Amino acid sequence: MPRPFKVTVIPEEQMDREDPALKQAFENAVRARDNAYAPYSRFKVGAAVVTEKGNIFSGCNVENASFGATICAERGAILAANASGERDYRCIVVVTDARPPSVPCALCLQVMAEFCSPGFEVFLAGPEGIESLTTLGELLPQPFNEVP
Ligand code: THU
Repeated sequence: MPRPFKVTVIPEEQMDREDPALKQAFENAVRARDNAYAPYSRFKVGAAVVTEKGNIFSGCNVENASFGATICAERGAILAANASGERDYRCIVVVTDARPPSVPCALCLQVMAEFCSPGFEVFLAGPEGIESLTTLGELLPQPFNEVP
């Protein structure tokens, strides 16, 4: 099914030039995806955030028999970065085998919005490579970000 938003496809060579950490993040996300614990949905997700310092933190989805206790890959990656004291992020790569590749769920977008600006880049990938680029602002234009 086509996405209800515009995605910009970027050739992989161009990505290498733009950000050398991107390819590494993709590879780390693929590896994390291999470790996904998804016995209930069988849908494996891997993610990796690149921090402003250039470090990469990855995560995978970890499901639970109490389904609501499931943690998504994107949040896993962001939690890992937080645990190392890094809260400034350049981009995130999300790897699934969905066609077209899946976008992060609203809970994960809300967690991204806590730390990232609307221009934060979200790269959507399949196991073979990055396929498209969108932004946090495109996916979640109006996050909840102020506790009254
Ligand atoms: N999942 C993620 O890891 N990230 C998302 O953004 C969407 C959903 C996981 C949660 C669950 O383990 C499986 O995908 C099916 O929903």
